[in-house]
Amino acid sequence: MPQWRQGLTKSLHKTRSVPESRYFQLATADAQGLPYCRTVVYRGLTDDNCLVVISDTRTDKCDQLAQQPHAHGCWYFAKTREQYRFSVTAKVLSLEMDTPLVSAHWERLSDAGKKQFLWGEPGTPRNDGSALHVSGDFSAVPQHFCVILLAIHKVDYLNLRGSPQYRELHYTDEQGNWLSQSIIP
Ligand SMILES: Cc1cc2nc3c(=O)[nH]c(=O)nc-3n(C[C@H](O)[C@H](O)[C@H](O)COP(=O)(O)O)c2cc1C
Repeated sequence: MPQWRQGLTKSLHKTRSVPESRYFQLATADAQGLPYCRTVVYRGLTDDNCLVVISDTRTDKCDQLAQQPHAHGCWYFAKTREQYRFSVTAKVLSLEMDTPLVSAHWERLSDAGKKQFLWGEPGTPRNDGSALHVSGDFSAVPQHFCVILLAIHKVDYLNLRGSPQYRELHYTDEQGNWLSQSIIP
């Protein structure tokens, strides 16, 4: 197991009582190179080191990732004062691309979580002030519900505890083996 993965597992364990510690920022770029950043919820880490996020294929991030799959994740654990910065390559998986995986993530959502995917097209105008209506059925996975796999290829770790602070770079060699190098913060 890569060293950063052991560290991340520990950070998640130490902060398990803090719901906000499951959020990280995902930055993407569009075809012109313009940056966009938003908060997402961590939904797991696959055996082959992909961060898992759920989303809606109709959101801008999915368009941006289709144009530029290289993205960046930034995750700060306030309780342990650790920052992880992930260089990633994203793959957006729709229901038809991976029905078992996408369905499993839909099933794991609470009704309140499912509802958010049934309010209509994200980012489109909301013309009257009336309540949003849920259209669709919780038992059927919406076509626009998706899983984003973020394959990690570099990790820049910073621990603010102590003086000096501790910073470490994790990267893969040509054979895909993980290497680590302590660096000046
Ligand atoms: C705490 C928090 C967690 C969020 N989690 C997700 C998430 O897991 N997936 C997601 O698509 N959007 C999530 N959002 C909403 C995004 O930050 C963003 O507003 C939305 O996805 C539209 O982004 P886009 O237009 O850049 O695609 C979350 C927002 C907050 C504040």
